[in-house]
Amino acid sequence: MKPLLPFLSTLSLTSAATFTNPIIWQDHPDLDVFRINDTFYYSSSTFAYSPGAPVLRSYDLANWEPVSHSVPTLNFGSQYNLANNQRAYVKGIWASTLRYSSRRDRFYWLGCVDGKTYVWIHNGLNKEWNWQAKGTVQGAGCYYDAGMLVDDESSGEIFVAYGNKEIRVAQLTDDGSGNLKETRNQVVYNSGSETVEGARMYKIKGHSPWGSYTKRSLVEKISGPLANAGFAHQGGVVDTQDGRWYYMGFLDAYPGGRIPVLAPMTWSGDGWPSVVVDGNRGWGREYPMPVNTTRAVKGMLGVVEEFKGAKLGEGWEWNHNPDGGKWSLDSNGGGLVLKTAAVTGDLFAARNTLTHRIVGPKSRGTFRIDVSKMADGDRAGAVLFRDQAGYIGIHKSGNTASIVVVNGLNLVEGQWTTSSTGKVAATGPSVTASEVWFRVQADITPAFGTNIGRQAVFSYSLDGKTFTNLGPALSMTNSWRYFTGYRYGVFNFATKSLGGEVKVKSFSMELV
Ligand SMILES: *[C@@H]1O[C@H](CO)[C@@H](O)[C@H](O)[C@H]1NC(C)=O
Ligand SMILES: *[C@@H]1O[C@H](CO)[C@@H](O)[C@H](O)[C@H]1NC(C)=O
Repeated sequence: MKPLLPFLSTLSLTSAATFTNPIIWQDHPDLDVFRINDTFYYSSSTFAYSPGAPVLRSYDLANWEPVSHSVPTLNFGSQYNLANNQRAYVKGIWASTLRYSSRRDRFYWLGCVDGKTYVWIHNGLNKEWNWQAKGTVQGAGCYYDAGMLVDDESSGEIFVAYGNKEIRVAQLTDDGSGNLKETRNQVVYNSGSETVEGARMYKIKGHSPWGSYTKRSLVEKISGPLANAGFAHQGGVVDTQDGRWYYMGFLDAYPGGRIPVLAPMTWSGDGWPSVVVDGNRGWGREYPMPVNTTRAVKGMLGVVEEFKGAKLGEGWEWNHNPDGGKWSLDSNGGGLVLKTAAVTGDLFAARNTLTHRIVGPKSRGTFRIDVSKMADGDRAGAVLFRDQAGYIGIHKSGNTASIVVVNGLNLVEGQWTTSSTGKVAATGPSVTASEVWFRVQADITPAFGTNIGRQAVFSYSLDGKTFTNLGPALSMTNSWRYFTGYRYGVFNFATKSLGGEVKVKSFSMELV
């Protein structure tokens, strides 16, 4: 059933006896999940979006909220700043890992970026999030698709399992302040030619981390729970405080990206897990709630943002590291001020595009923008962002602010250079008032592996109530190669010279 209001659905899920897959209909791929007492944490990958590696929190495994990002700034090189003709599309953070050491009261995030394994830490479970960069793991190369284990039952040793054919285990030491160094590394399993990505390592009955290891399948190519979304894969397993086990994987749900699904697990007498399947031997759409709790989370369905806080909410990520001198939050009444940060004709080269994940299956994102301080040649508006993008916004020419829809903004798949900066597909009225509302409505119902082009529709409003569609709908790509799904975004760039600005007064996202 479709919820009428986003917050109502969050409340009803919290008190429900069952949960429904996908547990989050948003692009949160390469997940790593673990528990500290009654709290579950979920880390995922973000490529060249900044901040990176979001941390989600849950008390029941089914309802989640964003609480932090492990990588506040992409500290992997200047190409992550989208400046000086450099770009890092599809590079950056992919399958990485997050764990907590109770002995040290320290969270560790680590992930392989451009051949090195970077580390960020946060000290203090109950302290306000404050991540610190710890360089790279000394003596280590790339921990490809890493899975970390902190053995706090023993003396707090840190192990990492990684690889995609040759699976290795590395042992790391912490010098006391969070700097990690590799002290041992060996191959523990070799799959031959078969790819076995996304290693995770758990200490369940105290076997040696060095093996020997035997392979069996937990699930393999079982159907469901959504059509046209591939098979649930990668992810991890986690237990509840009362000893129930769950496997969380993700589906290739393009055009929306990769979205998590959850299922209970059972253990055989000889110590092997299997996933509880539904009546059709597939991954279930619904299962009993893993945990009964009165502790609620904000949920991830609806968003109403007026940019009134001291910092951006955790739902936001910039396209590459932003230019901090060109954006601010207005502490006097709210609003996100975006000064133009680049002179370019190419949105993919323009710094400071701010993005938000799309909630599925169908939703709309609406930005209310004050455009009165745009300068001649500036372009600003709401973008449906990916490597094949489109937008609705203002093209300012002289004193005239025309509403336009631009489509066909494209990157070359695999190279991620710009092949097209887009064409004006429709022109609406000129705006004389200071504010305009831009809306993108996107259907991200999975269509992976099909030729179905899900549609996104652009509209604008001059009063915030009546919206007028403009231009052709955009047919979204289902390709996986950009890895990240479509996002709602807001942008402002100059084609002539810097100096103009817009103020984003609000953003709302709701299911439709
Ligand atoms: C988990 O709960 C136990 C029992 O209440 C407590 O002693 C321990 O400190 C908690 N662990 C963490 C990491 O908070
Ligand atoms: C939650 O409470 C319901 C109703 O009392 C019960 O049937 C169910 O088994 C409980 N679930 C868990 C995970 O404890």
